[in-house]
Amino acid sequence: MALKHPRTAGDGSRDLEVNPVFSREPLTIPRYALPAGELDPGTAYQVVHDELMLDGNARLNLATFVSTWAEPEAVRLMAECAEKNMIDKDEYPRTAELEMRCVHMLARLWHAEDPRRTVGCSTTGSSEAAMLGGLALKRRWQARRRAAGEPADRPNLVMGVNVQICWEKFANYFEVEPRYVPMEGDRYHLGAREAVELCDENTIGVVAVLGSTFDGSYEPVAEIASALDDLEQNTGLDVPIHVDGASGAMVAPFLDPGLHWDFRLPRVASINTSGHKYGLVMPGVGWALWRDEDALPDDLVFHVNYLGGDMPTFALNFSRPGAQVVAQYYNFLRLGFDGYRRVQQTCRDVATRLASEIGRLGPFETLTDGSDIPVFAFRVREDVRNFTVFDVSAALRESGWLVPAYTFPENRTDLAVLRVVVRNGFGHDLADLFLDDLRRVLRRLGSQREPQRGADDATGFAHGAEPKKTRPGKT
Ligand SMILES: Cc1ncc(COP(=O)(O)O)c(C=O)c1O
Repeated sequence: MALKHPRTAGDGSRDLEVNPVFSREPLTIPRYALPAGELDPGTAYQVVHDELMLDGNARLNLATFVSTWAEPEAVRLMAECAEKNMIDKDEYPRTAELEMRCVHMLARLWHAEDPRRTVGCSTTGSSEAAMLGGLALKRRWQARRRAAGEPADRPNLVMGVNVQICWEKFANYFEVEPRYVPMEGDRYHLGAREAVELCDENTIGVVAVLGSTFDGSYEPVAEIASALDDLEQNTGLDVPIHVDGASGAMVAPFLDPGLHWDFRLPRVASINTSGHKYGLVMPGVGWALWRDEDALPDDLVFHVNYLGGDMPTFALNFSRPGAQVVAQYYNFLRLGFDGYRRVQQTCRDVATRLASEIGRLGPFETLTDGSDIPVFAFRVREDVRNFTVFDVSAALRESGWLVPAYTFPENRTDLAVLRVVVRNGFGHDLADLFLDDLRRVLRRLGSQREPQRGADDATGFAHGAEPKKTRPGKT
């Protein structure tokens, strides 16, 4: 945690050393205390720059879903907009307009019945968008229950145990009981029947994930919707769906146009995505969209002054950079539908080829093949007893590759996997280099007598694919 340091100033920690080339400056500066005086900007820049060189190489980071590269023109626009605050709609009306255009484009991409009635906003990422989506579900359910004279104090949300940690946060922060459907056998994500079994009159909604963080698989949104239709017919319970399309909502429209997962399904009330994942913007932007005004209760919306008029906003933060929203609009203009399709298809091609090559190496078994979102998980075969996925992850790190290893949640805690996320910029050439390194690592690990690392050595960079703190099922 960033707030804690193993050693603090005054108890023997070493100061930061400044290269003696900058001899006009002090040669040391405190590490954890605000320096008493000023530094020349060039020196301050160099000190910070040099330290950051020790960060991992973003291009070799196969753990993150978040964009690690942008075109120079996008970077230039971001720098031009660095000082613009997204909330100041009155001062920056054009930025506000570009945000609205992005919302409209997404509404059409996700087949909103009447895109002019679709409401939406940018956020800092999918986590904030998930909080907003969850809050809208909770408010709608409360309003319905109160109107019917029913108690509205025990809301629950049904989802697969594989949901990203943001949904666990939502449940915790906004006091909603999380009802996790556990994994079972080869089912590593939410099943339709299992979701419906956990629903009752206190269920505010079901979260369906398009592109599970654990293995990249799409959850069967249409099947879940149809099972919930049956539930409504049989019991009168009307349970809406929120689709967490953090990754998949920017992949499926381009590569799987026939897949019904979006507003084409009347039960889908809202959708979120991360602009900074397969939306191809660098970190700091997500999107949340609601089918229509009815899906977003008005009492959650705040009204700010916009050109003397009224601008509705729904956000957890107040101030937020406008640069990422501008970069999103740039990407939409620059790539268009066809450009996005080519980028995502290339990622899928690289992912499926890499998954299949890894499957052929011998000691591994793939759980997914990268053909949903371009992400796949693989395990060490059961008959391999002298090394673990945790050994493989640690060994790959020696060559700079960041490949997370983690254990699956209930009821497959016996299963430990490695996961590869293929993003724009990780092409066939890098995939080949990765395979070379993996083969090299295997030669060494194959000759070790016994595993060196276990689940306690799980990498800290699984991007929210961690075991849940809360137990699944009804509480
Ligand atoms: C399915 C899913 N939902 C939500 C998130 C959180 O997204 P963000 O990092 O944009 O907050 C992630 C991140 O990996 C994810 O995979």
